[in-house]
Amino acid sequence: MLMSPSSRRRRQGYAAAARPAAARLHEPRLAAHVEDLTVSYHDKPVLFDIDLNVPPGVMCAIVGPNGAGKSTLIKAILGLVKPTSGHITLHGLPYRQVRARVGYVPQRSTVDWDFPTTVHDVVTMGLYGQIGWFKRPGRREREKASEALKMVGMQDFARRQISQLSGGQQQRVFLARALVQEADVYFLDEPMAGVDATTERAIVKILGALRDAGKTVIVVHHDLQTVRSYFDWLVLLNVRVIAQGPVDDIYTADNLRATYGGQIALLEHGDFTRPAPAPGPGPAPGPGFDAQKEDAGPPQAAEAR
Ligand SMILES: Nc1ncnc2c1ncn2[C@@H]1O[C@H](COP(=O)(O)OP(=O)(O)OP(=O)(O)O)[C@@H](O)[C@H]1O
Ligand SMILES: [Mg+2]
Repeated sequence: MLMSPSSRRRRQGYAAAARPAAARLHEPRLAAHVEDLTVSYHDKPVLFDIDLNVPPGVMCAIVGPNGAGKSTLIKAILGLVKPTSGHITLHGLPYRQVRARVGYVPQRSTVDWDFPTTVHDVVTMGLYGQIGWFKRPGRREREKASEALKMVGMQDFARRQISQLSGGQQQRVFLARALVQEADVYFLDEPMAGVDATTERAIVKILGALRDAGKTVIVVHHDLQTVRSYFDWLVLLNVRVIAQGPVDDIYTADNLRATYGGQIALLEHGDFTRPAPAPGPGPAPGPGFDAQKEDAGPPQAAEAR
């Protein structure tokens, strides 16, 4: 368990923050506060009436099936997709006012890795919020980027083009880019997807250290078995917020069934997992696979149709 006793105590005090928001549009006590958020693609709601309250200093997992709207939620919070309705604040302020205090690691499948740039340059880009886009990074900035690469074990790849890295290495470079920002709130979209066990441990350790330093770390996570050991706060999402709060309160069989539509199995030690999809014709379900969703009427839960 990575959670420190102090963070365990602290998060008890935040349990009230998990209750449905009652007209608190700009909530400065919360690291992330979302109220009445609906997002639609082509008139079809993929997030519906979302209220989200993430207190500062927690390591929060956003969990739900493929197509549940997890990436869309993060993109809406960061102003990358336009909501149909809703209010969003980070530390009580709109994102555009706290941009430099927010780090973001996008889902790997959504990044154009052919972009011709070196590992070191990608990490330095994380500093542009602090130095401005039109100033050249100086020695201090370059050193910061090198330090961040060292933290994720990628210092030997600094001069390499990002297109010439493995998936797990690319993921670590993006983590380094978020680290140099020295943000207060970090959003990471499936940072552990497709990395080996050693890299996963390294990433979890770095994120835990950020949390212990008082930062808020919000992670889209796909592995139910590690939710309780990695995270202290949990948001279960499937188009709507199914449940949110301290992980020990929220990680229950009923809540997980409500999120995954009954497609979970109980393991011996009280953890849950999702069974592998049954083999059949057509492509295997995975991130981004949503052929069945095109005909679905709004707002429906992903994979419950
Ligand atoms: N740019 C887009 N245009 C139209 N529909 C989209 C777009 N992006 C996402 N969607 C749809 O919105 C829904 C939510 O997608 P989103 O990527 O947020 O899900 P997710 O929970 O992150 O899934 P995954 O676990 O596969 O990453 C899906 O049905 C998806 O097909
Ligand atoms: Mg996603």
